[in-house]
Order: sequence, then C-alpha cells, then structure tokens
Amino acid sequence: MTDMSQFRRHRRLRRTPFLRDLVREHRVHADDLVYPMFVEEGLQGTSPISSMPGIARYGLDALRREIVALSELGLKSVILFGIPREKDELSSSAYHEHGVVQEAIRAIRAENPDLVIMTDVCLCEYNPLGQCGLVRDGKIVNDPTLELLAKTAVSHAQAGADIVAPSDMMDGRVAAIRQALDAHGYEDVIVLSYAVKYASSFYGPFREAADSAPQFGDRKSYQMDPANGREAMREARSDLEEGADMIMVKPALAYMDVTARLREAVDVPIATYNVSGEYSMVKAAAGHGWIDERAVVMEMMTSFKRAGADLILTYHAPDVLRWLREEAR
Ligand code: PBG
Repeated sequence: MTDMSQFRRHRRLRRTPFLRDLVREHRVHADDLVYPMFVEEGLQGTSPISSMPGIARYGLDALRREIVALSELGLKSVILFGIPREKDELSSSAYHEHGVVQEAIRAIRAENPDLVIMTDVCLCEYNPLGQCGLVRDGKIVNDPTLELLAKTAVSHAQAGADIVAPSDMMDGRVAAIRQALDAHGYEDVIVLSYAVKYASSFYGPFREAADSAPQFGDRKSYQMDPANGREAMREARSDLEEGADMIMVKPALAYMDVTARLREAVDVPIATYNVSGEYSMVKAAAGHGWIDERAVVMEMMTSFKRAGADLILTYHAPDVLRWLREEAR
C-alpha cells in the first residue's frame, strides 16, 4: 500500500467547478482590454484586412459607429493607428492638426467622454520608406526623429488623447515626448511606452493592415533582438527614468517570460500587445477547425494576466467582451 504521508492531494482543490472558481488566481476582465483599431483617411465604410479575418480599416464614420457598439459591450479603451492619404519624407501627416488620427480622436471623443483613447506614436505609417524614424543616407537617425515624435504626441493630446504610446524605439523619445507634453500644458496625458518591443516577425499582418512595411532593410537597428532578455530590463528602466507612466511588452505570446521578469522588477502597470501575427495564427487554425478559438483565446488572455500583464492590447477584444458577457449570465 502507498504511504499517504509521501504525497500531497493537489486534486482536492480541483474537484468541482465551484471549488476551482474559488481558488482561481487570475481572471480576465473587460476592464483590462484595449482594442487596436485602424482608421484610414478618406475611406467610406470599412475595408477588410485579408490576413486578419474579422479586422478592418475604418473610415471615420464607421469607426465612430463601431466604437459606440463596442462601448455597449463594455469596451473601455482603444488604441488608434492611422493610415494617411499622403506620405512624405518628414511624415508630416503624423503630426498634422487635422491628420487622420487627430480627427478620429475628436470624432470619438465627442460621443464617448469616458472612453480611454490611446494613440500609437510612430512615423512608419506616414513616410514612404515605412521606417519608424527619419532616414538619412539609408540610416534611421535617432535624435532628429525625437522632435517629430514629440510633435505627434502633442497633436494627439491636443485632439483629446488620454494616453500616447510611442512604438518607434528611438532612444530618448519618452523624455522628448514628456517634456513636450508638459510644455504644452498636457501634464495629465499618460505616456505608455512600448519600452520592450522586439524586432518580431509576428508583426507581418499588421504591416498589410497599416500599409507600413519597411521599403528597405528591416527594423533591427532599433527594435530589440528576440534573443535578449536582460536588455528588456535596461530598456524598461530607461523609459521609466525618462518619465513613462506604464510600459509595454510586445509581442505578447512568445515573450511572456519578459513580462514576468519585468513584473518582478518594476511597480508600474505593464501592458502586453497580443500582436497581429498571433491573432492571425489563431484565426487560421480556428478557421480549419483545428483548435477551439474561444477556449484558446481565453487561455491566452488568462496567461497574459498570470505572466503579470495588467492591460492587454488585443484584436480579440470584441470577442472576449462577448464571451465574458455570456459567462456572466
Ligand atoms: C509601429 C507598430 C507596429 C505594430 C504596432 N506599432 C509594427 C512594427 O513595428 O513593425 C505592430 C502591431 C501588430 O503586429 O499587431 N508603428
């Protein structure tokens, strides 16, 4: 006979659904979700993104209407990406007073006073070379880019953004943005820094969605090497010293170890970005009937929380909101 003192009965706490509910450590909540949305200048209605089933670019009016519908489902925050009509070397539509994102913020804000509006601050969608910084002699130049990023952030704040999220990965951009926001009287606007952003192949579908694929080279001279974990700590510390209020780890799925490490090291809120390629993989497999989409997505969301994320940016947000509603019934 087995000696009962030699092992522990872990299964006791898993015996019934109510017991499992009682001891569950992490839960996904509608409050944690941020929905990334693409707004295209001059578009009437919507235009689907073939590599991201269920996701579309929105014209201004369609965007407004969709956000009203999602708010009724419990959505509290969106992050906006702009697709401008014109691109130029200086990415001037990124910081134009009447740029596509700026106009979208105003349109949404008029109807949703409480919605937390975040914006992606970057240049890659706004210049023909598709690089996140200014290009000189084939190089992405750091310091001259900072002023343009700061102007972009200020223009988003002017339009009514609550949170600006720089994703360009230039050094010093958090300091430049914080100083510019304060100088213009926007000391309450929050900086969520994509502090830990890897040079990831999981961004593939996004570049179709946002029309922002680099036209030469890659982004490895500014985005991080996927092989590096310690470097994430350096990036995060720098951005916090420069004044970031929250930090992000991106992508989410393959980098949960980084989220967990950061959770131990910093005390600010941590966001994680469940990026386009992660979304498309799930959609593709689910489309074949190979996985149970709802179960897999909820498992991923719960795992992001377990890893230490407070906020989750995800294209699955509308589905998750619906499923959470169904569970609550
Ligand atoms: C850059 C930016 C990118 C994403 C968010 N902001 C693309 C990139 O760095 O290449 C990717 C998001 C996703 O894949 O869902 N502005």
